[in-house]
Amino acid sequence: MEKLLISLEGIDGSGKSTQLDLLSKMLQSQGRNPLILREPGGTTLGERVRGILLDGSVERSAIAELLLFCSARAELIRRVILPTLDEGRVVILDRFIDSTRAYQGYGLGLGATVIDAALRIATGGLTPALTILLDIEATTGLRRAASASNGVADAIEGRELAFMERVRQGYLALAEREPERFLTIPATKPHEEIAQQINERVLKLLNS
Ligand code: TYD
Repeated sequence: MEKLLISLEGIDGSGKSTQLDLLSKMLQSQGRNPLILREPGGTTLGERVRGILLDGSVERSAIAELLLFCSARAELIRRVILPTLDEGRVVILDRFIDSTRAYQGYGLGLGATVIDAALRIATGGLTPALTILLDIEATTGLRRAASASNGVADAIEGRELAFMERVRQGYLALAEREPERFLTIPATKPHEEIAQQINERVLKLLNS
């Protein structure tokens, strides 16, 4: 059976969770049993690393942050993603390599060479067949994220508007560079319309 890895990307507040849920239901209705994983997390090591990353009181340099995300990812790939793909199940990732490129690269300003080297080590080159980018203006995303978390932003969400704007532009640049892999959808569209667009692409992939 064909191996299918899909990632969902977007700045905080872009509505990824809603679409993950809808995509998962659609796949289930097709008789599939998709595995949904969030990054960082999904393994014991990943959840611990997630705790460090989201804790604003833990100081870190940009490089250390990059490597922490990569260590969580390396573990998730080897322990969970590859074995699940081998079983023929679809794997959907809530954030993956493009989050690192957008947040640690464009957001924090780490160079593409450094980021790509770290990603290569962590992933061994594993790349999604499809990456769905939910695009939203930084101000709108931040407002939505703040109301969803009752105004308690975590260490990464707490970064300023200018940071999130760079992340958003980074995502758009990444999508432009790989138009075959990316499906970019304005996140301000109604949920059902976004879901429809995602379903069409995923079904096409499944039937190809
Ligand atoms: P999370 O609470 O999962 O945010 P969301 O619900 O928006 O996905 O927190 C993950 C945070 O980590 C999010 O702000 C994006 C950031 N992140 C990076 O900076 N680099 C990465 O490689 C990944 C996977 C996430």
